[in-house]
Amino acid sequence: MTAQTGGPGLPQERRLVTEIPGPASAAALERKRAHVADGVGTMLPVFVTAAGGGVIVDVDGNSLIDLGSGIAVTTVGNAAPSVTRRVHEQVDAFTHTCFMITPYDGYVDVCAALTELTPGRHAKKSALFNSGAEAVENAVKIARAATGKDAVGVFDHAYHGRTNLTMAMTAKNMPYKHGFGPFAGEVYRAPLSYPLRDGLSGEAAAARAIDHLDKQVGVDNLACVVIEPILGEGGFVVPAPGFLPALADWCRDRGIVFVADEIQSGFCRTGDWFACDHEGVVPDLVTTAKGIAGGLPLAAVTGRAELMDSVHAGGLGGTYGGNPVACAAALGAMEEMRTHDLVARARAIGDRMLTHLEKLRAEHPAIADVRGRGAMMAIELCAPGTTTEPDAARAAAVNAACHRAGVVTLTCGTWGNVFRFLPPLSISDELLDEAFGVVGEAFATTA
Ligand SMILES: Cc1ncc(COP(=O)(O)O)c(C=O)c1O
Repeated sequence: MTAQTGGPGLPQERRLVTEIPGPASAAALERKRAHVADGVGTMLPVFVTAAGGGVIVDVDGNSLIDLGSGIAVTTVGNAAPSVTRRVHEQVDAFTHTCFMITPYDGYVDVCAALTELTPGRHAKKSALFNSGAEAVENAVKIARAATGKDAVGVFDHAYHGRTNLTMAMTAKNMPYKHGFGPFAGEVYRAPLSYPLRDGLSGEAAAARAIDHLDKQVGVDNLACVVIEPILGEGGFVVPAPGFLPALADWCRDRGIVFVADEIQSGFCRTGDWFACDHEGVVPDLVTTAKGIAGGLPLAAVTGRAELMDSVHAGGLGGTYGGNPVACAAALGAMEEMRTHDLVARARAIGDRMLTHLEKLRAEHPAIADVRGRGAMMAIELCAPGTTTEPDAARAAAVNAACHRAGVVTLTCGTWGNVFRFLPPLSISDELLDEAFGVVGEAFATTA
């Protein structure tokens, strides 16, 4: 089959010409079953031929509205023009040399851009990797090298990846950890601020977490504290105001490296360049990936120059880290973000989603919480009248109904009862409204 051209030029419409999945996707799924390991799951088994703007087109000719961005990756839109142009130019020039062997400008340009865009105006440096998990692993390596300490503080409901160290840092057992132990040691979990469930102020929740880290791990043992400023897979929980600043202050005063994992929340997603920006929190190290490169695999650790430089030469790197094509894509994605002021667009999309979600909440008592920032919004479903009894079955039913009606929605959360909405920032208001109309119908028909 010849590839269909995607990008923003695709007709921006929801169009169902078969059931979901259609016959061509069903046949492709059979091939997947035969050749792809069962452990690699698929949530919505339509096979894709093109995507762009706010839609995904499948092999049957269906056009689905995308509220997931491939899990917060295609923030600038799929096949965004500045990304594809720069990628084409780079592919024609060279595809790989290994930056550790013979370097190239694209890598340095991405690091310079990260210096400028990440929180704080101090001297910074970066190192580039392939995946979010790899960035988190390297942030821990850097923190340990810089402090000479071992322990890593993480939080309830955290998600940091699927490698051995990041599985240890991730909270949820199924499907991420089950049967894959033993896990890396010296990882300690503290309670998070989860306003719906703990009712604590940010300061009180921070005091609880700090007491836990102080008494059960010990300041002298802690190399770093790693936290998602807004939880990703764990349920899009936004900590109560004051939680992150108090934690960051405590770390700074005690020589503990404060690492913000902005892999899901970074790069305009929350209506600021980074989620930390909302409360003026300046992390010592920031991990980024996903939205950084418009769909190509790239990740980074950016941080205080003196911390980053505490690692001996050759201690950081990898064959593909900062691949030139991925770097070109990242420079293209950042160009899209600046040219189209995607920070402002994320806020506008957030306001629009909030209006839809608050209306839904008023109609459906199963919606216990509406939360998020910018274009990173979620609703948590609980047994009506409760905030503590997760209703994963309802979430699954609504999710399936959305998929059947041609809207790509994602769930998340420790209990699987959270709907998260992560539309590409290239989506139109009309498509967004239509998608939330579908979500509303899905709630009405699954009651
Ligand atoms: C906050 C956060 N950290 C780390 C990761 C791991 O990234 P990757 O899947 O690229 O390894 C993710 C992925 O969802 C994430 O959301």
